[in-house]
Amino acid sequence: MSGFIFDLDGVIVDTAKYHYQAWKQLADKIGIEFSLEQNEQLKGVSRADSLNKILEWGQKTISNETFTALMKEKNEQYLDFIATMDDNEILPDVSKVLNYLKTKKQKIALGSASKNAVQILEKVKLTHYFDAIVDGNQVTNAKPNPEVFLNAAKQINVQPEHCIVFEDSLAGIQAANIANMVSIGIGDASILAEADYVFKDFSEMSLEFIDKLINLKN
Ligand code: BG6
Ligand code: MG
Repeated sequence: MSGFIFDLDGVIVDTAKYHYQAWKQLADKIGIEFSLEQNEQLKGVSRADSLNKILEWGQKTISNETFTALMKEKNEQYLDFIATMDDNEILPDVSKVLNYLKTKKQKIALGSASKNAVQILEKVKLTHYFDAIVDGNQVTNAKPNPEVFLNAAKQINVQPEHCIVFEDSLAGIQAANIANMVSIGIGDASILAEADYVFKDFSEMSLEFIDKLINLKN
């Protein structure tokens, strides 16, 4: 048996655009330029680390109190964006793959940096697929540190080398590689070149390929 670990943002749901919009509003407000290219570097990165990077890019220093207030403001804006989210926002063929893995009795875990992960899974009605959920509330070291995935593997009781990680961020692919897991990039192959395999989305992934992953290490 294998363990399948899914990142959330950008893999299961297209929340990356909402994170970007919320950071962009904040950056505009504090007078820092923030581009889509820079946003790419925030994928998979925790809320606090993201704000630190934005401040660094804008060469701005702020007090701890302001830092906390800005993180809160960004999250409130983000929560506003995702308030109306439902299962229509599940990315292509994610449900098909989750269903297939369930019928094959594979272990499924979530490995996300987000502190809003449980809420989002509920909104898109996918919670019941997951044998374990590891999110930003349980992890101290952000991706590319492998903590989130190692923790998930432990919770589903599967050895790291028998785990497969689906990720849309470079930091997440690097974390999976460091954890000695099979890394599968979902998105742009030029950004995710360090992954073992890359697919534009799950609709490009055949059931034969998933069978191969299931049997990979048995
Ligand atoms: C990751 C996203 O999944 O979660 C990042 O790719 C985000 O963009 C991080 O910053 C933390 O999310 P949240 O919901 O806790 O602010
Ligand atoms: Mg992601």
